[in-house]
Amino acid sequence: SAAEKGEFKHYMLKEIYEQPAMIKACMEGRISGDRLLEQCFGANAADIFDQVKQVQIIACGTSFHAGIIAKYWIEAFVGIPCMIEVASEYRYRPVVIPPGTLFLTISQSGETADTLAALREVQSRVLASLVICNVPGSSLVRESDLCLMTNAGPEIGVASTKAFTTQLVALMLTTIALGRRNDLTAEVEAKIIRALKALPEQVEQALAMDKDIEEMAQSFAEKHHALFLGRGTLYPIAKEGALKLKEISYIHAESYPAGELKHGPLALVDKDMPVVAVAPQNDMLDKLKANLQEVKARGGQLFVFAGSDRVQSEDATHVLTMPDCDEIMQPVLYTIPLQLLSYHVAVLKGTDVDQPRNLAKSVTVE
Ligand code: AGP
Repeated sequence: SAAEKGEFKHYMLKEIYEQPAMIKACMEGRISGDRLLEQCFGANAADIFDQVKQVQIIACGTSFHAGIIAKYWIEAFVGIPCMIEVASEYRYRPVVIPPGTLFLTISQSGETADTLAALREVQSRVLASLVICNVPGSSLVRESDLCLMTNAGPEIGVASTKAFTTQLVALMLTTIALGRRNDLTAEVEAKIIRALKALPEQVEQALAMDKDIEEMAQSFAEKHHALFLGRGTLYPIAKEGALKLKEISYIHAESYPAGELKHGPLALVDKDMPVVAVAPQNDMLDKLKANLQEVKARGGQLFVFAGSDRVQSEDATHVLTMPDCDEIMQPVLYTIPLQLLSYHVAVLKGTDVDQPRNLAKSVTVE
């Protein structure tokens, strides 16, 4: 109802703007000073975490994108192997589950049929299961050994926004808990906690880019295709940006790790296919610009979200300056403008933003 949406035209926009508060809520009571309080995972969590030798992450859609970032974090900060797969594949194939496997599911609703089926399939063969979830009492919460709630409040818009960014916060807390037993020093833990605590304010600053993004949306509304590029932990953010655009604006969008561009997708780019890059580091943008030289000559448009020490805009390259942020938590920050972009493009196209055609909020049947 209008009352619940308050000043906002759509639930999605309201939920985008709630992110600073919900990210705070997700950290509430789970951090003391510069230390994680690992009891937040459950009473027997410490015992279980002591025995974890690797992690398998299973999820769908946006939650799957959060999981790819967690894989990068776990291998970087914990130093144990981590694999990730979409639930609809994992559940139907013979899988190898090494001893000491923590089975980690990620789900906003806690009711996604494929994710739940994957858990039920392997429950008896894993060391323990942990779910990162937003709905208390949901099936995944009830059936997992451990859970960490994202505390993002009800998400009504079919396109997931605040559930995703809070999943990332919860996954970073998970990384710390596992890391303590492995490669993560108290010093690095303190650095990560500082980066987490700075996030709500930085996300607030990213939301202030709304007007610029609304203007940028004009360049997409008439297009039929768009390409999203990123590298490292921002590659999944490019994937998420493309998924958001597809879901609510019905524009065909693809995402690639930036390094894959020259291995094929570059052939698609012309003036009718805008390219969005999330590229905080200099080296990547320089490579990208080299790749896109020819494209620019043919009128291709490149939109780059970059850090404040970045180059200026020049013809066909539009640089949108992001708030400063610790590199560790950049994926959360760079998500915000891509959410806003898909939202504004959808509004320009007049689609049903909160209830896109053919989609359901929770996919409880196959
Ligand atoms: C996200 O915008 C989607 N609507 C969808 O991909 C969703 O993330 C997916 O269905 C998984 O849902 P869950 O997080 O509730 O398990």
